[in-house]
Amino acid sequence: MKKVFRIMRFDPEKDPKPRYVDYEVDVDEEMTVLDVLHEIKAKQDGSLSFRRSCRSAICGSCAMNIAGKNRLACNTQVVKLKKDLITIRPLNGFRIIKDLVVDFDTFFRKLEKVIPYMISKTPPPERERLQSPEDFKKYEQFTMCILCGSCTSSCPSLWFNSEYLGPAAFVKAYRFYADSRDEGKEERLEAVSDESTGVWRCHVIFNCFDACPKSIDTTYAINQLKKAAIKGGR
Ligand code: F3S
Ligand code: FES
Repeated sequence: MKKVFRIMRFDPEKDPKPRYVDYEVDVDEEMTVLDVLHEIKAKQDGSLSFRRSCRSAICGSCAMNIAGKNRLACNTQVVKLKKDLITIRPLNGFRIIKDLVVDFDTFFRKLEKVIPYMISKTPPPERERLQSPEDFKKYEQFTMCILCGSCTSSCPSLWFNSEYLGPAAFVKAYRFYADSRDEGKEERLEAVSDESTGVWRCHVIFNCFDACPKSIDTTYAINQLKKAAIKGGR
């Protein structure tokens, strides 16, 4: 069946502003949006730029705005969109490098701010630091984040305040905060509770929860961090 893909094209080195270009593609039942992008690049316009790697919803590199929602191109089946005209844009709130490729430098700089690794202050035990299955369950879903940027890009608080750390950084912070083996809770709470960039800038809009391709409860993580910050007098 024929579908039209209206794709935002922009080369900041040549174009004064972004523009949309329509491509008609004959799609079958199985095709994903990523398959379509490959088809367009191979047969219609080799200059179309987009990121991808795993094709299995694991690497997080193919996140983009498809039919008005942030999604992974590699696990979005075209027929399930139930549209004949499908608009594809780069992630909102990120600088466009070219077409659907955006700059993740700021995103990763913010991630670094929340100290995204385990902090240990006590001497290591003879073998590994043990954890019960019950304690692992407390943060398991937050380990599923693939850092695709879909949640952060969908957040209106970020659109108005580019320094806001955003839901992906908070999910990462909570993943370690809730880990029974972590000994850096104070430092991490300090990092997420800054008045202008921290959790207080979250107005519980829920776009992030809706956008997450892994169905991570982003807003639960943010609320838990807010509660912990209040408890800690921040
Ligand atoms: Fe933004 Fe999600 Fe909060 S969309 S305002 S981080 S609930
Ligand atoms: Fe890796 Fe889509 S290509 S998540």
